[in-house]
Amino acid sequence: MTRTWNVLVTGGAGYVGSALIPELLKAGHKVTVLDLYLYGDDLFEDLRGPNLREVKGDIRDIAVVKDALKGCDSVIHLACISNDPSYDLDPNLGRSINYDAFLPLVRASKAAGVKRFIYASSSSVYGVKDEPEVTEDLPLEPLTDYSKFKALCEQELNAEASDDFTVCTIRPSTVCGYAKRQRLDVVVNIFTNQAVNNGKIRVTGGPQKRPNIHVDDMVRVYLHLLQQPSEKIQRKIWNAGDTNFPISELAQIVRQVVGGHVEIETLPTNDPRSYHVSGKKIRDDIGFELKYTIEDAVRGLVDAMKSGKLVDPLNNPMYFNIKRMQDVRLK
Ligand SMILES: NC(=O)c1ccc[n+]([C@@H]2O[C@H](COP(=O)([O-])OP(=O)(O)OC[C@H]3O[C@@H](n4cnc5c(N)ncnc54)[C@H](O)[C@@H]3O)[C@@H](O)[C@H]2O)c1
Repeated sequence: MTRTWNVLVTGGAGYVGSALIPELLKAGHKVTVLDLYLYGDDLFEDLRGPNLREVKGDIRDIAVVKDALKGCDSVIHLACISNDPSYDLDPNLGRSINYDAFLPLVRASKAAGVKRFIYASSSSVYGVKDEPEVTEDLPLEPLTDYSKFKALCEQELNAEASDDFTVCTIRPSTVCGYAKRQRLDVVVNIFTNQAVNNGKIRVTGGPQKRPNIHVDDMVRVYLHLLQQPSEKIQRKIWNAGDTNFPISELAQIVRQVVGGHVEIETLPTNDPRSYHVSGKKIRDDIGFELKYTIEDAVRGLVDAMKSGKLVDPLNNPMYFNIKRMQDVRLK
């Protein structure tokens, strides 16, 4: 039987959240979204009703956090300045959201009676690895502040675990595919946008392997975690994603799915980072299996572009975190 929760999703109006919220509601959960709604206020217009509460506010404001937590028994924490370039725009801002606000949020959750806290970290916490398979037990060597604070939050979260407070961390691969709040600044989505709207994909480097996960599988991970008994997920850290292709192959997959004449231009890179993230542990521990492919992600994006669900995808700042961050001048 499905266990239902009253779940607070911070950052629920972002890329992953926009796909997650409808599925949480469909599964019978009650949902509170706490988000600055940087990417639009009307995302969940069609879903409004007694099971959805929307709080437009900042996770750095503890009064807002406490209010949003009222009645919630679980948290999925997605809110973040969520890539290196946006983070680097204003490192103090990035730190205040990604790190300083973290422990107060966790502690307020505990105080509010939350039983389960799920944290979206990132597979970037590993840094560069020579191992052929990047598994969860490898030491973390984060290369940027974005990744460093993700790694620190993982530790701080585990230290807060108790019999009454179950915590779990997910390290997602780069997410791809269509979602209502679209990001077009992640690799598969960038290539698809270029192929459909420019007829030319620009690949920097080529042989480096990068892990990707379909946004709908990302959603399935969070739904799956809510159904697990506490003892199976307590203090666990899992990679999410098991699809690793060299960037050059990703470009070819995109070209093949988009069809027609698409040129691939290869440019040199001074960033040879290459890693192969393993999704074995989450499969072995709690039976999570991926369902979607890169091809599915590309097809979803192509359909969205062709049917006009995405407006001016080459230029619209709403699809590019860094452009949007610059426009709103968030402090
Ligand atoms: N998308 C990926 O490829 C990827 C990969 C690895 C990890 N992750 C992690 O998954 C999570 C979700 O990623 P996403 O792609 O949906 O990101 P996103 O940028 O689309 O969404 C983040 C959301 O957080 C909100 N937010 C930012 N600062 C806030 C604040 N101070 N208070 C309240 N809300 C705030 C934004 O408005 C946005 O809606 C993030 O934590 C990210 O680091 C994402």
